[in-house]
Amino acid sequence: MSDKPRLWITRKLSAATEARARHDYHVILNPEDRVFTAEELVAGSADVDAILPCHSEVFSADVAAQLSDRVKIIANHSVGVDHCDLTALKAKGVVVTNTPDVLSDATAEIAFLLLLGAARRASEGDRMVRAGAWTSWSPAFMVGQQVTGKRLGIVGMGRVGRVMARRARGFDMEVHYYNRKRLAPELEEGATFHDNLDDLLAVSEFLSLHCPATPETTDLMNRERLAKLPAGAILVNTARGALVDEAALIEALQSGHLAAAGLDVFRQEPGGNPAFAALDTLFMLPHIGSATRDTRDAMGFRALDNLDAFFGGREPADRVA
Ligand code: DGY
Repeated sequence: MSDKPRLWITRKLSAATEARARHDYHVILNPEDRVFTAEELVAGSADVDAILPCHSEVFSADVAAQLSDRVKIIANHSVGVDHCDLTALKAKGVVVTNTPDVLSDATAEIAFLLLLGAARRASEGDRMVRAGAWTSWSPAFMVGQQVTGKRLGIVGMGRVGRVMARRARGFDMEVHYYNRKRLAPELEEGATFHDNLDDLLAVSEFLSLHCPATPETTDLMNRERLAKLPAGAILVNTARGALVDEAALIEALQSGHLAAAGLDVFRQEPGGNPAFAALDTLFMLPHIGSATRDTRDAMGFRALDNLDAFFGGREPADRVA
């Protein structure tokens, strides 16, 4: 019998991650990549010391309470931890970690892709060409919003927000931000701080959301806040669907108050909001912010680093509970 810790990897991860995990742990894998239900998470926890899940596995208070006492650590393969009830897991004595830093570049790439795609009507144009509906050209054809030199508001100037700011500077954008705390000048890199969200909204020709989903940020962009954006603004969300009131977003796009929006995250995942499909001004991607080969390996390795630290008797670098 192996004395390696028993590790349950709940989704199919990169080959490099699974190979490294196999070397150091007795691993239980999920080659079919099935998403486990709450009942299955509880049942599967019975004979494992650690779980390495993704954001698709929900560890609610209920699941946390029923987890086997054998589970000592949940090492997430995600930076977001809104799928984990941290209070309940802490009460249960389970250590929780996440994977910050390693996905900031990939996520900011997708945020900028959404910003450009929404502004320049990329998916609308792509659909038109594919459908054989591109039958004429005129100076007024497919006119969108220019990005270069415009003002970008960033909500949440953490790791991803700061990379987004750097990418935006490459397009000569003027960067403004709202954050719980003002950053030090070397992190701010010339961005203008607003000490309240409404002031940021008022100046944001583009707005990109980069804050975690918490009870405080649920519906952060509600009807009132969307109305505070300048007419013709563009909203981008690569953080979590819970930050945006989707019914209010539909109204703002239909009325033209928002020129466009780019979303990688939705209230309902997978699938998204069926009502969004009718909106040409919405550029959507299926939650692929961190989906690059490099980043998937880095996320897997970071989760394993946290497990190695824990089972080596050290404090995991990315402990969140
Ligand atoms: C994250 O890491 O939180 C991403 O949304 C992918 O799970």
